[in-house]
Amino acid sequence: MRMMDDLRPETVGRAHGEVLEIGFGTGRNLRHYSSEVRSVWGVDPMVTHGVGPVERRIDEAPFPVERTSLRADHRLPFDAGRFDCVVTTWTLCSIPDERAALAEMRRVLKPGGRYLFIEHGRARVERIVRWQDRLNPIWSRLAEGCNINRPIDRTVEQAGFELTSVDELEGKGPRLVSHLYRGVASRV
Ligand SMILES: C[S@@+](CC[C@H](N)C(=O)[O-])C[C@H]1O[C@@H](n2cnc3c(N)ncnc32)[C@H](O)[C@@H]1O
Repeated sequence: MRMMDDLRPETVGRAHGEVLEIGFGTGRNLRHYSSEVRSVWGVDPMVTHGVGPVERRIDEAPFPVERTSLRADHRLPFDAGRFDCVVTTWTLCSIPDERAALAEMRRVLKPGGRYLFIEHGRARVERIVRWQDRLNPIWSRLAEGCNINRPIDRTVEQAGFELTSVDELEGKGPRLVSHLYRGVASRV
């Protein structure tokens, strides 16, 4: 994930207020949040309590950080409309039921709240898409459940968000996983 670090600020730096980060991982986004952020709540099934670099990133954050070891495609323990922003970075690919997770993310966002994301997904080049579809079953078995062919923009819209902006860009690495969707969506 380190090689993606230069792409994080553009997405993470737009967050403000009370932030929910789904797929918090090892906290690599923490240093990219701006002074507009009041707190970050990280949700991830991976347990990272006591892991040195993660604890250090949390200690160094200039705002309170909470972590919960949970799957976001199950009911989240937050009231509806609790957060100003939800953030995901390279996470929707790994959530088994990404539609259920998006529905929960939408539920816990305030009306008018923003969902900020950068995710890899379905390419636009037909030849690459064919390979993504062909290899996805084996890829996801080998790469801890990572799916390479999800149409991120459509999935976010179908979850009831309004897309304010989406850029598609080519990141680093193999073309099967380099097509990125970077966007801002609103909870309408
Ligand atoms: C490729 S990593 C990205 C981590 C982090 N967002 C980053 O940018 O460095 C994908 C993350 O999604 C998390 N994840 C997998 N299934 C999940 C689920 N059902 N709900 C929430 N997070 C999940 C994984 O544990 C992992 O931390």
